[in-house]
Amino acid sequence: MDHLRFNLNGTWVTERNLAPTTTLLRYLRDVKGLPGTKEGCAEGDCGACTVAVAEARAAGSPQWRAVNSCLLLLPMVQGKHVVTVEALRAPDGAWHPAQEALARALGSQCGYCTPGVVMSMFEATYREDLDQPWKLDDQLCGNLCRCTGYRPIRDAAQKIAGACPSDRFAARAPESMDLHYQAHGQRFVTPVTFDALFDELVRHPDARFVGGGTDLSLEITKRFAAPPKLISLEGLAPLRAVEESPELFRIGAGVTISELEAFSEQRLPSLHRMVRYFGARQIKHRGTVGGNLCTASPIGDLAPTLISLGASAVIRGRAGERTVALEAFFPAYRKTALSPGELLAAVLVPRVPATARAASYKVSKRRELDISTVSAGLYVETDGKGVVTLARLAFGGMAATPKRASSAEAALLGQPWGEASIEAAAAALVKDFTPLSDHRGSKEYRARVAANLLRGFFDETKEVKQPRLARGHAATVQSAAEVSRA
Ligand SMILES: Cc1cc2nc3c(=O)[nH]c(=O)nc-3n(C[C@H](O)[C@H](O)[C@H](O)COP(=O)(O)OP(=O)(O)OC[C@H]3O[C@@H](n4cnc5c(N)ncnc54)[C@H](O)[C@@H]3O)c2cc1C
Ligand code: FES
Ligand code: FES
Repeated sequence: MDHLRFNLNGTWVTERNLAPTTTLLRYLRDVKGLPGTKEGCAEGDCGACTVAVAEARAAGSPQWRAVNSCLLLLPMVQGKHVVTVEALRAPDGAWHPAQEALARALGSQCGYCTPGVVMSMFEATYREDLDQPWKLDDQLCGNLCRCTGYRPIRDAAQKIAGACPSDRFAARAPESMDLHYQAHGQRFVTPVTFDALFDELVRHPDARFVGGGTDLSLEITKRFAAPPKLISLEGLAPLRAVEESPELFRIGAGVTISELEAFSEQRLPSLHRMVRYFGARQIKHRGTVGGNLCTASPIGDLAPTLISLGASAVIRGRAGERTVALEAFFPAYRKTALSPGELLAAVLVPRVPATARAASYKVSKRRELDISTVSAGLYVETDGKGVVTLARLAFGGMAATPKRASSAEAALLGQPWGEASIEAAAAALVKDFTPLSDHRGSKEYRARVAANLLRGFFDETKEVKQPRLARGHAATVQSAAEVSRA
């Protein structure tokens, strides 16, 4: 196929001869002459480039999702509906409720962030699940504003959140994403069956996979790389599925972080807490479970918590699937257990028994939209007498890979779950890790934080085995209406 086809602001467009690594942002501004979508950082941090894309990935009806157009490669919107700020005003001149609310709340000064803020509020207008104050913060946390201050912006968002007007913006499911596109010596393929995927790999064994592209696109926008062959995994429905059995959950590698957030809220609270502090909503809508694990970053947020929950990686090749314990999926710094021709298909996460204590912690310089300095996924089971029968203590940011603290675990096993055994485990951490110093934290700081996270875990789970996010924990401000509802 020599062309791309997608719906932009209500009109289907066909494009040829654009490099597959053209970002949607550059396309909007340079090719279409739509300058409303702004460029701030070109790395997913500021939200100035936010647009809305209709997605139908999880079960349920299609939804508008706010995403960073600076990280979205044009072939990633194949078959989809995209809306930019230019399309919000009605033909009769009426403002969209999000624009009206922001103007009335005086939520704009220089206006540079405003189109991005409006597009995040656009998503909020059609969301039916903005039922807690922290969710409103989360909706806006990917939009930086240097001059107005966030209070009026948040007030405006609160006015329209969940309004769900019946208007011309009904989100429509994407057409087929099936794509074989080549231009400027670059190739971008989105197979929709595994056979097509493995055929493509036979023809192009040097092709790279791309999930949501939130890591890979940075190579293009920051290092000006031009990967010649990309295979998007977004068209493979089995990778986007989440299944439950009485024993475990199977979470597809293509499940987005925001889908994981919704799924884990009731089922896997310790994972949910980690995901809450993962990037911003725009990143969570594109970033995938598989992409996070396959970057094999020592400070990736999912690995420590998933390891602590006893998860395994399901690896798929042409011959079928094999399963490895997730802790064995990271053999060395930035390396995975995948062989050439294999991809990560899913993670299997056992259900957490009522007898278990499980929690996760992320320590970063900022609470939101920041990378971990140290993170931990901690899991302990005890018998009827309160003696520890199983301990999985996994840390990120403490070694070249996400790693279990085997000496600390040994110090807990067979001991009563109490302050003395926790202190023994905290002391044993020095045998497990020799952390490095970098701009995020010194080795001494990291060692102390890791020990204190263990102590905090004990404190938090002394009485309640499954700690939840404290009520209102993550909301920066609450309006009088929210307080009276809480
Ligand atoms: C602004 C910003 C904030 C971020 N915040 C966080 C954060 O708080 N915590 C955090 O952990 N990360 C964060 N990230 C990193 C990134 O968003 C996540 O790691 C995300 O989950 C990556 O998923 P993806 O699908 O976008 O990966 P992609 O960029 O699509 O892929 C990443 C790598 O994985 C490979 N890959 C992808 N899927 C598969 C698969 N199924 N099988 C084999 N290989 C595969 C690709 O080839 C590529 O090498 C942030 C990134 C940005 C830009
Ligand atoms: S330009 Fe800053 S997030 Fe895209
Ligand atoms: S109004 Fe100036 S950056 Fe937000």
